[in-house]
Amino acid sequence: MVGSIDLYAGDLNTEKVEPLPEDFDPTAVIKELVPPVVEAENEEKDKKREIVLGRNVHTMCLAVTEPESDDEVTGEREASMASVLARYRKSLIERTKHHLGYPYNLDFDYGALAQLQHFSINNLGDPFIESNYGVHSRQFEVGVLDWFARLWELEKNEYWGYITNCGTEGNLHGILVGREVFPDGILYTSCETHYSVFKAARMYRMECVKVDTLVSGEIDCEDFKLKLLCNKDKPAIINVNIGTTVKGAVDDLDLVIQKLEETGFTHDRFYIHCDGALFGLMMPFVKRAPKVSFKKPIGSVSVSGHKFVGCPMPCGVQITRLEHINALSRNVEYLASRDATIMGSRNGHAPIFLWYTLNRKGYRGFRKEVQKCLRNAHYLKDRLKDAGIGAMLNELSSTVVFERPQDEEFVRRWQLACQGNIAHVVVMPNVTIEKLDVFLNELVQKRATWFQDGKLQPHCIAADVGKENCLCALHK
Ligand SMILES: Cc1ncc(COP(=O)(O)O)c(C=O)c1O
Repeated sequence: MVGSIDLYAGDLNTEKVEPLPEDFDPTAVIKELVPPVVEAENEEKDKKREIVLGRNVHTMCLAVTEPESDDEVTGEREASMASVLARYRKSLIERTKHHLGYPYNLDFDYGALAQLQHFSINNLGDPFIESNYGVHSRQFEVGVLDWFARLWELEKNEYWGYITNCGTEGNLHGILVGREVFPDGILYTSCETHYSVFKAARMYRMECVKVDTLVSGEIDCEDFKLKLLCNKDKPAIINVNIGTTVKGAVDDLDLVIQKLEETGFTHDRFYIHCDGALFGLMMPFVKRAPKVSFKKPIGSVSVSGHKFVGCPMPCGVQITRLEHINALSRNVEYLASRDATIMGSRNGHAPIFLWYTLNRKGYRGFRKEVQKCLRNAHYLKDRLKDAGIGAMLNELSSTVVFERPQDEEFVRRWQLACQGNIAHVVVMPNVTIEKLDVFLNELVQKRATWFQDGKLQPHCIAADVGKENCLCALHK
């Protein structure tokens, strides 16, 4: 139902969720035969989760145990493993129902592809050169790449690309191509960029200049210009965010290019990689959105396949100009192919899943889904504000940023992504109004308890989202 919600009244148990039993314990099914669950020593159950560097915290694992000699006869091991898997599946169903924080589309049906599970499909090497390994899916991979090249307006005979293992690999590749084109180039990117780009800079030992952002999260082009002027003698490699991780802000690609031109960087002295992990596939279907297009002077674009597309395994798409790829590639006799990718073996199932979805949905299907996500994101932002909770939604985005909940248990239950005083929900095609209503009701009820005795106050988030979007005691 798209309509009003009763934010204060109501029972939190209205949704038919099948929670796991409190004492979920796989060992309880068939005693002794199931691998024991190993728990960390002295672990305090409700302790706030902390990131512990340099220590391998073994909070929970299903141990692998040695088969007994008579296992095959009794069949007990098979039965106990089946039981563990059944319980695990149940927990996945529950966790899928309560997921809002990460940009994954969890709404799909790939039943038709189950028959392919029996094959070890591997696309190692170059997608466009057949290697000696015959159990591959290059024909699907190239079909998918053609689709994306057309979306981003690059001719078939002018592009090169491949299906990556994730958006991070696309960034690692795009920036590597930039570095090969300009070995002494400086990498520029905004301070709200995904960590994979800074990782690329560290891996390739590149000088990296962090550019300020506006409150929206998009790159501050005035600061970009100042920083370019300080380094006019070196070529520029720029990572442009087509949707930042936390606020879903889209860097203004046209303005970035304009600033480069204004500061005297001709097209042969800069390389732009567009990180479109999530919005790379949404933007083309948003009315009035600026275009990501190879008709502009950009070098590469990457997108994640498990985000908006809804592939059940991590994967991504990387497209670059064919002219750049020779600088990077080497012939490999052992493969009878060319090596121009970051990874060696590549998941050959992923291109088939992508091909399947693109064929089923087409441009029309994606447009409909994008519109639904934007509508539902506005609904969430408006309801949060109606309930007195500070929130922000960037114009081209379905990422709703709001005041961080005070209770880590609540954060974990809904799998929210948090940074400092803010949290976000990424509205994906599987996030319905009904789900948002359940979440909102629960948040409002919980919030009333967090602030009831006046000891805690809602966070001030003006620095993150602007005064006009903050509803703390000072700004409401
Ligand atoms: C803007 C941006 N770039 C890159 C990535 C990395 O993508 P992946 O998780 O597919 O490696 C993310 C992930 O959320 C992202 O938000």
